[in-house]
This record gives sequence, structure tokens and C-alpha cells, in this order.
Amino acid sequence: MDGNGRWAAARGLNRAAGHRAGLDAVRRTLEASREFGVSILTLYAFSTENWRRPADEVEALMQLLGEAVSDEADELIREGIQLRVSGDLSSIDPGLRREVEQVVALTRENGELILNVAYNYGGRAEILSAVRRLAGDAAAGRLSPDAIDEAALSRYLYSAGLADPDLLIRTGGEQRVSNFLLWQIAYTELYFCDVYWPDFDRTHLSAAIQTYQQRLRRFGGIESS
Ligand code: FPP
Repeated sequence: MDGNGRWAAARGLNRAAGHRAGLDAVRRTLEASREFGVSILTLYAFSTENWRRPADEVEALMQLLGEAVSDEADELIREGIQLRVSGDLSSIDPGLRREVEQVVALTRENGELILNVAYNYGGRAEILSAVRRLAGDAAAGRLSPDAIDEAALSRYLYSAGLADPDLLIRTGGEQRVSNFLLWQIAYTELYFCDVYWPDFDRTHLSAAIQTYQQRLRRFGGIESS
């Protein structure tokens, strides 16, 4: 969800205002995703590198997570949306963490759509944490080294049980992955668009999906007739 800061700067607003407008785009995108039958929507809301931003911006982003969770909890429950979080919540405010975990628990059985929020998330950190726990299980004799395959490692990731993404959309004009879902996007189609995230809406999502539908996915094989 890139481009919040530039969207705000173009309007003479502070960066926090850009993130707030970004939250409206999150609501629109969630709505459109349901309409288009998307089953899992993962949003990169705060990266492990975002702690390097000025304290007031980090504070604003934490506040937005709190607001989003408390404002939207009833709606998520009512609409059958399952909230998941990918990331290390141990370093966020304990009250906010409890609130998030409560909504995650309350929506656990929901199956309409999975809204997976990547928060304090980094792809390398995710793989490292998985490997650390996997190595612990192997050292303790709970996991044989021979049984360590791709499926086994996947079970230690935040995304355990989730299908790999079909499509990754990056807004804001940059064409890089920036430490997002490094393991999971091995065969994901990448889509980059110039629009700043706060301007992203149903038509942009629709265009991205239509582009995806025209791509031929071979997963390393050859085209089958
Ligand atoms: C990147 O744009 C965006 C972020 C670091 C924050 C994204 C957060 C939200 C949209 C709101 C919270 C969402 C949820 C789901 C709670 P940038 O600030 O790097 O933009 P720039 O490149 O233009 O400076």
C-alpha cells in the first residue's frame, strides 16, 4: 500500500493524513475484493523497517491499526470475514495487541474472506523466525531433518495454512518487492501501478485482476494444451 506519504505531500498534508486516507482505501479494497470473490486479501500495513520512521508517524500508524480494529470488528464479524495477522506483535502496545488478538479469535471460524494484515512484518524476519522454531523442534527430536521439506517449513510461517498469493499488487510506482512475503511469492504474478494507495479503488483492483487473468502461469512447466 505504497504512496500514502506522497499523496499527502501533494496536498500539503502531513504523512499521517496520507495514512488515514489509506485506511479509506483499505475499506474500499476490502469491499471490492468481496465483490470480486477474492478469498484472501493480504495488506502490508507496517514493515519491520517502518520503525525507522519518525516517532510521530509510527505512533499515527499504530493508532490507525487500533482504530481500524475497533471500528471494523463488528462489521468483520457480521460479514463473515476472518482477520489474521502476519507479523510480530510482541513489540506493539500490549493493549492494542490484546484488542487485535480478540478480533482474530472472534473471527477465527469465518470463511467469507480472509483479511490478513501484515503488521510489523518482514519477509526475511518471517523466514528466520520459522527456521529458528523448526530448528528447535529438530534439536528436540520432534522433527526429523529428513521430514524438512517446503510444506514443513511453510507450517512454521505466519501464513501457515494459507494458499500462496496469486497476485501481488504494489501501488505508488516503485517496482520492487520490499521484503514482502518472500517465501510465498515464488510463483506469484506481480502487478505494479502508479496510483498512490489512497487513490486506489474498485476500478484499479478490477484492472489488476483483469491483467492477472490474461497472464499465462506455467509454474516452471510448459504450456499445456
Ligand atoms: C506506505 O506508504 C504505507 C504505509 C507504511 C502504511 C500503510 C498503512 C495504511 C494504509 C493504514 C493502516 C491499514 C491497516 C490495515 C490497519 P509510504 O508512507 O511509504 O508512502 P510514500 O512512499 O509516498 O512516502
